[in-house]
Order: sequence, then C-alpha cells, then structure tokens
Amino acid sequence: MEATTKHPQKPPSLPWKTRIALSVLTTVTDAARRRDGTINRRFLKLINFTSPPNPNPINGVNSSDVVVDPSRNLWFRIFVPTATTATQPLPVIVFFHGGGFAYLAPDAKAYDAVCRRFARKISSVVVSVNYRLAPEYRYPAQYDDGFDVLKFLDERKSQVLPENADLSCCFLAGDSAGANLAHHVAKRASESAFTQLKVIGLVAIQPFFGGEERTDSEKRLSLVVSMDRTDWLWKAFLPPTEAAEFGRDHPAINVSGPRAADISALYGFPATLVFVGGLDALQDWQRRYYEWLKSSGKEAYLMEYPNMFHAFYIFPEVPESGELITQVKEFVHKQCQVAGRDGRDSVGNTKL
Ligand SMILES: *[C@@H]1O[C@H](CO)[C@@H](O)[C@H](O)[C@H]1NC(C)=O
Ligand SMILES: *[C@@H]1O[C@H](CO)[C@@H](O)[C@H](O)[C@H]1NC(C)=O
Ligand SMILES: *[C@@H]1O[C@H](CO)[C@@H](O)[C@H](O)[C@H]1NC(C)=O
Repeated sequence: MEATTKHPQKPPSLPWKTRIALSVLTTVTDAARRRDGTINRRFLKLINFTSPPNPNPINGVNSSDVVVDPSRNLWFRIFVPTATTATQPLPVIVFFHGGGFAYLAPDAKAYDAVCRRFARKISSVVVSVNYRLAPEYRYPAQYDDGFDVLKFLDERKSQVLPENADLSCCFLAGDSAGANLAHHVAKRASESAFTQLKVIGLVAIQPFFGGEERTDSEKRLSLVVSMDRTDWLWKAFLPPTEAAEFGRDHPAINVSGPRAADISALYGFPATLVFVGGLDALQDWQRRYYEWLKSSGKEAYLMEYPNMFHAFYIFPEVPESGELITQVKEFVHKQCQVAGRDGRDSVGNTKL
C-alpha cells in the first residue's frame, strides 16, 4: 500500500545514502522470506556486514563478546567507555537489537555502531544481547534469553562488568522488536528479585507491537514496515498453537488490548521513554502502548518525531538520530539521579 492513497503525505526527504541502504535491506530481507514461513539464511549472508569486537578503545569505547550459554548460542557484546575515571559509576544499558525477532545480531555493523554511540555519548556500559531468532526459535525463547542475561549479570557482575558499572542503575533498551522484547523483560524483571541489579528505566524506540485490527497508520504507511512484512513476522514469532488461539491479539503482540497483562500493581515496573515516528506504520500501536502505561499508573514519556520513519536512528547521517541519543542520555541520567536521591543506591556514591 502506498503512502499517498488516503492521506497524501510528502515522502520524507532522506539522504541518498539512507534511501539506498533502506532499499537494499528491504529487498534482500523480502527475498529471503519463504512462503512456508522459513527464512533463507544463506541468502541473507548477502547483507551480513559484521564488525568484530575490539579490546582496543576506538573513540573511547572498547568491546568484547561474552558467552552466557553456548547450548543456545546466547552471548552479548559489551561496550565500555574507557575515557571515564575509574571511580565514576556508570549506568548499565541492556540493549536488544531490532529485526522483527527474525533478523540481525549484536555483531551487525549497524548495531555495533549504535551501541558504541550509546556507550560513548551516554557514558554507560552497553550490553547488546544475541537472543535466538524466529522462526527457528519462537516465542517465548527471545524473552527467556533477555531475562537470563539479566540473571547472568546479577550473578557474575564482578567477572563480566567493569568495576565502576552500577547495576542498580540498569536500563533496558531496544528498537522495534528489541523494544517489544525490552518491555516484556522489564515486566518479568519487575516481578523478580535480584541481588544487585535494579531496572530503573525502559527505552522503547519505535516498539514492534500489533494486533488483528488494522490501524489507520498501518493502512497508509509502508516505508520499511508494511502489513505484509509484519503479518509474516508475527506468524514466524508465535508458536502455531498460540497463533491459532490468539492470532495477533496475543498478549505479547497486542500488549495494550483487553487481553493485556495488568501491570498496574507491578510497582517495580520502570519509568519508560517511548519514541514514535510520524512516518512509521506502527505509530498507532506505539501511542496506545504509551497511553496504556499511563493509564496503568506508570511513569512514561512520549517523544514524537513527526518526519521520521521506522528505524531512522540507525542512520547516523539522519540528524534526528543524534537528537534521539541526547534524549536517551537525559532520561538515563535523570533516572539514575532520582534512584540515588530515593536512597535506593546503597553504595552511596555520587550519582551522575
Ligand atoms: C554473519 O556473519 C557472522 C560472522 O561472519 C556470523 O557469526 C553470523 O552467524 C552470520 N549471520 C548470519 C545471519 O548468517
Ligand atoms: C575495556 O576498558 C575497561 C575500562 O578501561 C577495562 O576494565 C576492560 O578490561 C577493557 N576491556 C577489554 C576487553 O579490554
Ligand atoms: C487489541 O488492542 C486494541 C487496543 O489497543 C483493542 O481495541 C483490541 O480489542 C485488542 N484486542 C484484543 C483481543 O486484545
């Protein structure tokens, strides 16, 4: 469906570099989707541009890969800002990449670069999780992997995190499917007890939510995200039995509908920052998510980018991507400060 059918809308003025990248990425991923619901992973190698971890700081950030569970290839890439003083406590951001639950990884060039930028500009340790992908592994494998990384960090802090990493200032962040994942892991975390780790914020960048209903924005927008693509991805994500029972109104997908979990009594559910783009087909679901958080009594903030498309912030040449990082930075440091003032920081360090 074209953006011009019902509500004429000016196409976004994107840099050429971005246009070409978007067109190559969507063409190859579309071609790798098989009718039978599987993915031609060999074909996807055409766009598998990766970056290795690097123990030597580049622009003040080093990185390394840490294995959590080799039996399910669960690992993360950790990014550490090296220019900070050893006594300055650093927030920890656990990050989940996007890709419809089916594509990409922390070593993908684009996500490696995004996490480096987060680590450097926010002065935080970033842990980018390699969770299992659909359809080879379906719901709730992705949420299990995300939650197990939190447990691992809590138990192995001294072995895997730098000494000044402050796990009581932990954030969950992600974009698209990664933001859906971050939400569900945040919910689980707020129902669980950790020894050191405390999730105090959730950064949901253009989260991938949906439902059986076709919203207005889904009908009129199709850049990067189209109904054809999202329908296919949700089918790949849900186990067939759950798909048959709930369809896209499954509580993992239609988070804010009547079947949604009641989070109003989950007092540990963290403050949430939701990013929405005005050219993103998913925006109606994302605003409902924000409204649902508010009506459930949660602290939530909505950041609107009227001229931005799905996944815009991955492209450093788009000026708004820098703005987004600045807003995440402000949110992270504010929440850390509030947590410190609340006396929840038992260490008693001066917070950022
Ligand atoms: C992409 O390449 C990397 C490194 O060569 C490899 O570890 C990874 O499994 C590949 N991903 C896919 C989807 O083929
Ligand atoms: C990255 O830098 C931090 C802080 O300087 C250090 O503790 C850590 O060992 C370094 N990581 C690697 C893989 O060299
Ligand atoms: C899905 O969510 C929308 C509200 O966001 C709601 O109108 C619809 O009834 C929901 N469906 C189910 C079955 O939860």
